[in-house]
Amino acid sequence: QRYRIAVIPGDGIGREVVPEGLRCLQAAAEAHGFELECTEFDFACADYWARHGEMLPPDWRDVLGGFHAIFFGAVGWPEVVPDHVSLWGSLLRLRRGFDQYVNLRPVRLLRGVRSPLRDREPGDIDFLVVRENTEGEYSSIGGRIFEDTDRETVLQETVMTRTGVDRVLRYAFELAAARPRRRLTWATKSNGIAISMPYWDERATAMAQRYPEVAADSDHIDILTARFVLQPDRYDVVVASNLFGDILSDLGPACAGTIGIAPSANINPDRTWPSLFEPVHGSAPDIAGRGIANPVGQIWSGAMMLDHLGEPAAAERVVAAIERVLDERADVLTPDLGGTGTTEGLGTAIAAEIAAG
Ligand code: NAI
Ligand code: MG
Repeated sequence: QRYRIAVIPGDGIGREVVPEGLRCLQAAAEAHGFELECTEFDFACADYWARHGEMLPPDWRDVLGGFHAIFFGAVGWPEVVPDHVSLWGSLLRLRRGFDQYVNLRPVRLLRGVRSPLRDREPGDIDFLVVRENTEGEYSSIGGRIFEDTDRETVLQETVMTRTGVDRVLRYAFELAAARPRRRLTWATKSNGIAISMPYWDERATAMAQRYPEVAADSDHIDILTARFVLQPDRYDVVVASNLFGDILSDLGPACAGTIGIAPSANINPDRTWPSLFEPVHGSAPDIAGRGIANPVGQIWSGAMMLDHLGEPAAAERVVAAIERVLDERADVLTPDLGGTGTTEGLGTAIAAEIAAG
């Protein structure tokens, strides 16, 4: 089996952690007898923007559309290009253009990583955040009127479509039904956001009826964030609209240690288009160029990619290797994990562990 992967390192530490991700993916491919044919692209970065005034080439859809998956580092270099330009010009176009309507972010406390929450051990924190990734609160519909007057008024609409809401809920219920605990919580705020959120609740309740084996309930987003911190063991699959999911999917990984280890997948479940795998973190200009970024978020995102490609055993091997190295090899941990190791040192140790099995 041979998979064609588009590789986009992007900016800052993206360029440092992507090679470690590839090193580990190639080790897994070798161990499991499949091939990864990787093609690197130099767009979706500040350099490209400085040369072309755009983040992506005009034919990006044709250039990337035929790959089995996209392995993405991080984009953003505010000194050169404003953040809203770099993000809307690249990642958000890819997510929407390739209809990657699920953003999946596992939150798991790994052995060897300390949670900032008191007395939490591996096993206490193990859930999935499913974020709606194409509509909801992140719309560009709205505007300003009466500008620069006392009547200045700003509107921004939330968009929820039946197709858009149902498909992400269905994905989350399918996930929950396949997990041992079979629990699902959907985030709401129907007490305050009195039009769109009751609709979200209505569709979730209807979907729940089709999955009687899943124990489903809802939490208002405010108490849900409190419970992530106070009772993380409550949760199994958490599904949320674009904005709420964005917030939960940074809060969750923070509860499970460092943002440097958190992975994410932007998935097009219909497989019409390639899905995109990237760490949760950004380009970290404050530590870029020093070789000390934690590569685990990138490597774990690679494991999610292998799973999506249909190589779940290889994916599991990568995650197991990450966990063993974090637990047993204090000598190679990066500074964010309390060590003095380097990006390459930690990546190489994990790759060796993958090869050893
Ligand atoms: P960031 O995630 O880049 O950094 C936040 C903090 O976490 C920094 O102190 C950084 O040093 C630390 N950090 C992040 N990843 C780390 C790693 N792997 N190992 C060790 N420490 C790590 O977020 P920030 O500073 O808000 O954004 C920086 C740039 O990245 C901006 O241009 C922003 O737009 C972009 N960004 C891009 C994302 C993406 O490509 N998906 C996501 C988030 C931010
Ligand atoms: Mg975010």
